[in-house]
Amino acid sequence: MIRKAVLPVAGLGTRFLPASKAIPKEMITVVDKPVVQYVVEEAVAAGITEIVLVNHSLKKAIEDHFDVHYELEAELEKKNKTALLEVVRGIVPAGVRVISVRQGRPLGLGHAVLCAREVIGDAPFAVLLPDVLVDAEGVTGGNDLSRMLQAFEAHQAAQIMVQQVPMSRVDQYGVVSLGGPAPAAGQSVPMTGVVEKPKPADAPSDLSVVGRYVLPARIFELLASTAPGAGNEIQLTDAIAALIQEQSVEAYRMLGATYDCGSKIGYLEATLRYGLRHPELGAPFRDLINNL
Ligand code: G1P
Repeated sequence: MIRKAVLPVAGLGTRFLPASKAIPKEMITVVDKPVVQYVVEEAVAAGITEIVLVNHSLKKAIEDHFDVHYELEAELEKKNKTALLEVVRGIVPAGVRVISVRQGRPLGLGHAVLCAREVIGDAPFAVLLPDVLVDAEGVTGGNDLSRMLQAFEAHQAAQIMVQQVPMSRVDQYGVVSLGGPAPAAGQSVPMTGVVEKPKPADAPSDLSVVGRYVLPARIFELLASTAPGAGNEIQLTDAIAALIQEQSVEAYRMLGATYDCGSKIGYLEATLRYGLRHPELGAPFRDLINNL
């Protein structure tokens, strides 16, 4: 069973300025939780028990969010605020560990994943990009990540989550090529290649990499010898392209929806969607929107 996941959280979040100047973009709140907490919850729901944050020295708030806040817990206990105490303690569920390593220099996503190598070791692992919320609303029988983990075990093939995007936007993503037709939602098919942020005219398909990966430890060796690519950064996409030359790698087409919380409009959409279904705030929030 795959139990470890890497969350690269060291990025500066320039797309979200000015909000992300002093607050990590991953700590920006969607309804009542920071974005990164939703991503950790998604991983935990898929059976991940070891979360490896690849962090930056200026983003300690992320580590603090997943640490014990003894004073706060003692105060809530003293005041008998048991419901809140449970909320605070539940941020890291029992049996889950959050570990933090540093990416000292901004050398790219591939480099960030490589920084987790010593903590991950030889076992396969998941990667979740914390900008992107993957919504499992309406998805039954396990979230998309858990389906990818199952497909990895069943097919012995790395899994890359993809979704269709308009051709005009392929230059913002990794884009995959397939040997045959696109998979149905919830299914995986073999990939023949992947390129980072191609021009629409050069894109091999309209299936973009969403930011969820299940990878074998071999990727670390490939990353270690990957030269800087698009944007002069060490790209995870390039190491995956090298992996495809050696072993089976599959594109998993997601069932759920995504919200790109690294962008302001994606963040606003997530706020609406998650706000409207919040157990306590949903109804008054709906009234508020109707009144507007
Ligand atoms: C990264 C990956 C890209 C992927 C995207 C998903 O790009 O390099 O392949 O499609 O995340 O959000 P970034 O958004 O960090 O530029």
